[in-house]
Amino acid sequence: MCGIIGCAGRGGETLDTLMHGLSKLEYRGYDSAGVALSNEELSVRRKAGTLDALRSSLSSQTLLDGDDSTVEGDGLHDNPVGIGHTRWSTHGPPTDDNAHPHRDCTGRVAVIHNGIIENYQELRDELAAEGHEFHSDTDTEVVPHLIETALDTGMAPEEAVRSAVSRLEGAYAICAVIAGVDRVFAARNDSPLVLGISEEAYFLASDVPAFREFTDQVVYLDDGEFAVINKNGWRVTDVDGTVVEKSINTIEWDPEETGKSGYDHYMLKEIHEQPRALRQCLQGRVDELGGEVLLDELGALDPDTVQFVACGTSYHAALYGAQLFRSIGIPAQAFIASEYATSVPPIENDLVIGVTQSGETADTLSALREARHRGAKTLAVTNVVGSTAARECDEALYIRAGPEIGVAATKTFASQLITLSLLTLHLNGSEDDRDVIAGLRDLPSNVQAILDDTNAREIAEEYHDSDAYFFIGRGLHHPVALEGALKFKEISYEHAEGFPAGELKHGPLALVTENTPVFAVVTGDGEQARKTIGNVKEVEARDAPVIAVTDGASDVERYADHVLEIPESTPRTAALLANVQLQLVSYHAAALLDRPIDKPRNLAKSVTVE
Ligand code: G6P
Repeated sequence: MCGIIGCAGRGGETLDTLMHGLSKLEYRGYDSAGVALSNEELSVRRKAGTLDALRSSLSSQTLLDGDDSTVEGDGLHDNPVGIGHTRWSTHGPPTDDNAHPHRDCTGRVAVIHNGIIENYQELRDELAAEGHEFHSDTDTEVVPHLIETALDTGMAPEEAVRSAVSRLEGAYAICAVIAGVDRVFAARNDSPLVLGISEEAYFLASDVPAFREFTDQVVYLDDGEFAVINKNGWRVTDVDGTVVEKSINTIEWDPEETGKSGYDHYMLKEIHEQPRALRQCLQGRVDELGGEVLLDELGALDPDTVQFVACGTSYHAALYGAQLFRSIGIPAQAFIASEYATSVPPIENDLVIGVTQSGETADTLSALREARHRGAKTLAVTNVVGSTAARECDEALYIRAGPEIGVAATKTFASQLITLSLLTLHLNGSEDDRDVIAGLRDLPSNVQAILDDTNAREIAEEYHDSDAYFFIGRGLHHPVALEGALKFKEISYEHAEGFPAGELKHGPLALVTENTPVFAVVTGDGEQARKTIGNVKEVEARDAPVIAVTDGASDVERYADHVLEIPESTPRTAALLANVQLQLVSYHAAALLDRPIDKPRNLAKSVTVE
């Protein structure tokens, strides 16, 4: 979804600070971008396309000299305040006119917004009838006009912003600047917004990486709250202007963690960060001698049944988690979050677990709210401390993967699987857990072994111009097959589908030809492996190339054209290891096809609309 940033106190560095912040937020949207600087005057520049398009337009002319300036000026001021936006379109195509910031009729007010204003049409009709002129298709544009109207009635700037925002229905994180006012105003409802505090400057942003370079001190805003920053300080209030006391949190990760560290893409870097992410996830949670898992952050949980709600990659982790819960005798089911509310299953001493890397996915938050409304206990399994899911749920369990920038989730999926595995061990507490715990201990080094010696690139080279790609697996490998296909299609733009191995013959087999490679995940030598090998033979008989992802325990190699090897491990860790090989195949195929791997078309990392 869109990324927003505001800052005050950066002096002549304000524009650079905004552009730097936007580069860290580009994963949230990258179809157009814009900035506004405000002091006695207000200047705005917006461009369709990636941030580079905006950057080039800024370097060719000073911000205040361009066509897009709203107010005449003679250059940047000593200490302006500023706002910046990177967009993922919801209302209107990605054009210069639809890019944020949007302005009022006078050119005094500029606003950026992430979310959807549901009553914008009604507000727009009302404002148009009063004579306001609109220049974009966006819902956002009503906001500067509402602020303009409020200012015209004589309200002070802060009050005018609060009054305008009080008219809005829907989801928003908003920042506004007003010419002649040395402040950035912000409001939040259902879209993420954090405030950053350094010694000399103050920041507002959709996510911490936007300003992490300058400070590790943050305040998480809650729904219904307003914030004001200027070069001297910050304040949070409610809708009436009453000051709200907020606590300041310290961010624990380094700014370098949001850089590429020499890798060509964030995705490759994040794939390679998996051993470290998994170690972080396990640290202090596993007592190997005692054969127990201790999740101290959780309160007492004793659910009769478990429901998972999640989207995209996180839904695949939820499918995996549901299987683990069933394996310890707790009935569990995974739901696609956007479908959950249409037929909520009966809830009685249920635990509803929202699996969400960002903790901000609107579909997942909405499903969790529905569950709470019906009386369920809720648990957020998330990567982002202080995220909406973490704050709204009764309990939060962190996957500790560190920041993930690539739109296609990789290390966070691995950390989600392991966190869900720890959760079941925590609830189960059985003697048989010792082997599983030993498997978890070996996992980081097993992932490293794959990263150090993989033939994924050769496989990608051989097959990257195929007609379509299929991924199959049974049991815990079914979610891996789904995730393998999702990753492949997201970043390569090639057609890819994942199936339960046994389901292939019930339809999809009609699509299998000599030009549709099939990736089959087969580990161990038990019943499931034997049956999946049967499915592999069905594929082989149709001349499709087979790539087996295997630990070598079965004889699937005999029927495969290629093998992607994984170290021997336990069934639940084998799924994660197989997934690492599939991530690498997707990455290399997309690289060979020259796709924009970190920012696939039409996708955004954090989707804050339903
Ligand atoms: C978007 C992303 C996916 C992600 C999904 C859920 O669709 O493009 O990569 O899996 O959101 O995100 P979450 O933050 O809830 O895990």
